[in-house]
Amino acid sequence: MSSKHTIILGSEQPDLQQAAALLRAGKLVAFPTETVYGLGGDARQGQAVAAIFEAKGRPNFNPLIAHMASIEAARRYVQWTDQAELLAKAFWPGPLTLVLPLRDGHGISPLVTAGLETLAIRVPAHPTARRLLALVDGPVAAPSANPSGRISPTTAAHVEAGLGGRLAAIIDDGPCGVGLESTIVGLAGPHPMLLRPGGLAAEEIEAALGQPLQQRDTNDALTAPGQLLSHYAPNERVRLNATQAEPGELMLGFGAMACDLNLSASGSLIEAAANLFGHLHQLDALGRPIAVAPVPNHGLGQAINDRLQRAAAPRD
Ligand code: TXA
Ligand code: MG
Repeated sequence: MSSKHTIILGSEQPDLQQAAALLRAGKLVAFPTETVYGLGGDARQGQAVAAIFEAKGRPNFNPLIAHMASIEAARRYVQWTDQAELLAKAFWPGPLTLVLPLRDGHGISPLVTAGLETLAIRVPAHPTARRLLALVDGPVAAPSANPSGRISPTTAAHVEAGLGGRLAAIIDDGPCGVGLESTIVGLAGPHPMLLRPGGLAAEEIEAALGQPLQQRDTNDALTAPGQLLSHYAPNERVRLNATQAEPGELMLGFGAMACDLNLSASGSLIEAAANLFGHLHQLDALGRPIAVAPVPNHGLGQAINDRLQRAAAPRD
């Protein structure tokens, strides 16, 4: 199913009609979202979903997020709750994914959910993603468009370098604004649970809910399916909480300091989030180990530190 030639739909006005037609035909299309580039396939077509897992080399026990054009579309696939309504009204479209029990007759391929009874859904804010989803007029399964375990893509060039030749098309619409994957909140249990920190700060979600989010038990395969410890990995070793580079290392800084690349010289976590994956891609291309300065753990810092810890984790 994967084609040898990847069409790049880019620059001025990407041909979203063509991209939507490819998706409806069961082909894979990478598209920009405000978080990271997604590797899209029609969530109702098992063969398209299987092709996503194959293209990424992703273990098939790791479920995917279904992307929808609107809250109304999302409600058709899951058992909606008051808390889902509250969070969707507050943060959709945007970098938030909700996990809810599937509804009967949902039509989503069981490969998307890896056989779970719940579905992760998100309504992205990126205008190109929104127009594409409206044209497809159906749920699009989309993991981040990188080979499994590697650094997530925030530009079309990252997607092409990692997966080009395995996709029918890549929609190039410049760098992603947020730069970190969506925050995932589980609403299928008794208490809302933070399943993955991401591009929407947990504090904002807690303020909207008026209650704290339960923290995920990392040993629980059901609440955290496929959240593998080693992920986002550059080729060379990553060392965290470094105050300066050791000989041979490249320094990824935060705040005013001497370094090779700085996540944010002014100490902005929003800027650091937007720069994180792009800077890791750039340093990785130089083929030397990377030392990373400490990043504060509040707001978007929680997700930045989550990604950095996985990038630094021992690999199998
Ligand atoms: O920002 C994002 O979320 C990006 C863009 C493309 O939308 N997508 C993304 O997808 O990050 P992916 O596949 O890289 O991460 C999806 C995460 C995985 O950690 C998976 O385990 C979790 O969502 N997930 C999916 N379905 C789930 C479910 N039913 N219950 C719990 N976690 C689920
Ligand atoms: Mg990913």
